Amino acid sequence: MGWVAVAGAGELAPLAMQRVVVAGQRLLLCHGQTGYFCIAEDCTHEDYSLAFGCVKGDRIKCSLHGSWFDLANGQPCNEPADCALKTYPTRIEAGQIWVEVVV
Ligand code: FES
Repeated sequence: MGWVAVAGAGELAPLAMQRVVVAGQRLLLCHGQTGYFCIAEDCTHEDYSLAFGCVKGDRIKCSLHGSWFDLANGQPCNEPADCALKTYPTRIEAGQIWVEVVV
C-alpha cells in the first residue's frame, strides 16, 4: 500500500485524534505533544475503540479500563492491557499528513 495522505497538516488540533480507514484498516491519527502518531484504533485488551479515550502528552488512554499506551511504540504503560498496539509511521509533506500502511 505504501504512504497515504490521511489529513491536511494543521487540520488536527493538538491532543486531538481522528479516525481514518486505510486499506480497510481502522486507524487513529493522533496529534501528540511531539508530533503526529498513527495507531490501530482498537485497544489490545478488548476490542474497544481508543477514539473514546484521550490523548495526553505522547500517550493515549483507553476509556474502558484505563490503560495508557505510548503513541510512539504502542506499548501499554499500565495494566490491564499487556500487548502493544500496532503503530504506523507518519510524516508531513506537501501540506498533508501521510501514514505508511503495509498490507
Ligand atoms: S479495553 Fe482498553 S483497557 Fe480494557
